[in-house]
Amino acid sequence: PETGSLSIVVLGASGDLAKRKTFPALFRLYRQGFLLPNEVCVFGYARTEIDNNEFRNRLRGYLVPGKDSSPEQLEEVSKFLYLVKYVSGSYDSKDGFCNLDKDISQHESLKNSADGSSRRLFYLALPPSVYPSVCKMIKTYCMNKSDLGGWTRIVVEKPFGKDLESAEQLSTQIGELFEEPQIYRIDHYLGKELVQNMLVLRFANRFFMPQWNRDNIANVQIVFRENFGTEGRGGYFDQYGIIRDIIQNHLLQVFCLVAMEKPVSLKPEHIRDEKVKVLESVQPIKDDEVVLGQYEGYRDDPTVPDHSNTPTFATIILRVHNERWEGVPFILKAGKALNARKADIRVQFKDVPGDIFQCQKQGRNEFVIRLQPSEAMYMKLTVKKPGLEMATIQSELDLSYRQRYHAVIIPEAYERLILDTIRGDQQHFVRRDELKASWNMFTPLLQRIDKGEFKSIPYKPGTRGPAEADKLLLEKAGYVRTHGYIWIPPTV
Ligand code: BG6
Repeated sequence: PETGSLSIVVLGASGDLAKRKTFPALFRLYRQGFLLPNEVCVFGYARTEIDNNEFRNRLRGYLVPGKDSSPEQLEEVSKFLYLVKYVSGSYDSKDGFCNLDKDISQHESLKNSADGSSRRLFYLALPPSVYPSVCKMIKTYCMNKSDLGGWTRIVVEKPFGKDLESAEQLSTQIGELFEEPQIYRIDHYLGKELVQNMLVLRFANRFFMPQWNRDNIANVQIVFRENFGTEGRGGYFDQYGIIRDIIQNHLLQVFCLVAMEKPVSLKPEHIRDEKVKVLESVQPIKDDEVVLGQYEGYRDDPTVPDHSNTPTFATIILRVHNERWEGVPFILKAGKALNARKADIRVQFKDVPGDIFQCQKQGRNEFVIRLQPSEAMYMKLTVKKPGLEMATIQSELDLSYRQRYHAVIIPEAYERLILDTIRGDQQHFVRRDELKASWNMFTPLLQRIDKGEFKSIPYKPGTRGPAEADKLLLEKAGYVRTHGYIWIPPTV
């Protein structure tokens, strides 16, 4: 049932993720009428011993839109905070979880709708090391008890393990307590508007269907750049590195949507079946198709070991062994402390056969999907340069969202995904076998990096990363640069 009392429990409520992402997303859902005051109670759970008021005050600053917030906006925040309660306890103690259960049950008895069902959503904004104990506690003390229906679901965040073995171990531990339909593994990239658009684009447009294959596409890049470093999270980041932080999850999920076959239907299982299939078609990653980098100054962070080899940059070529993609390199690239903050998918098409304009052309056709910032899609094409001469020029068909959809506020990734967890839609969540296939792909490489057998090349902050990565792109992935053209996002 999608009605009845709804208890949303954020475990790790005083942590960064909860304050910066989870609670603001819940607040936005509340503001839009998706969390109803007569049904919902949001519980924050953490170890710090503070009372409801103190917790609400600590949260407030993360929810108010800005210094110049109107009285109405402040009032909305207060109304939302009124629905938030705080319970303190440790992550492995019976007492804490019994108290939590008592408070949830009390809320349920007060707010129960006519059908008496209860819905309990546990959001684990916690390090994965405590997932098993927290899940055990939830399973033992906090499950939905209503005979009249409802559900208990848990939401977990990455990192889901560090390699194939630890990920599988974690999956097994959680799997012994909860069924797969109760487990929501969040990858927030799957909540981004243009990532969600990928399925529609590919399978609802006749334009793309005949083009999307090895006959026409030369290479595909999926690129994530950040123009800042690890900023105080160095110690945490150093245990993971850019492959575990961004590539194995966010970029690989995007890759799946770009490369997978058409699902039988939009049912979550059909979509996830296709994702697993394409992941399993990826060939083992070759050493000479990987470039790792580490920005200069990364080790200045006192929490980072002096001799760390952890990559803050990586370019990796994936090769898909199937009928559609044989021979088409997929380049996944991610880096911190680079020259820009953006994420895009760049599909480069092959040259025109028997091209009569060849010598004049600036570059190949490219289809670019800008995931962020300023969501956009544009197609780079060659047109006649307007004027008397018969000359060609590179131009674009441009769909910039801000310009095209003035009044639409694009939802935040977390907001959308949390709503899906409440609605019970697992389409945009990672299934256990998907996770396994993704770790399988990267584990051999990661093990070699961890052992120091694969070195990260230093690069200067604020640049494109190591020059070797661009070389790899040109020499091994057949990427052809466009000359004298740059896409300028329209200003609205
Ligand atoms: C997180 C990573 O998952 O994604 C961070 O841990 C990264 O290192 C962040 O900064 C990027 O997310 P977004 O949505 O800002 O691109």
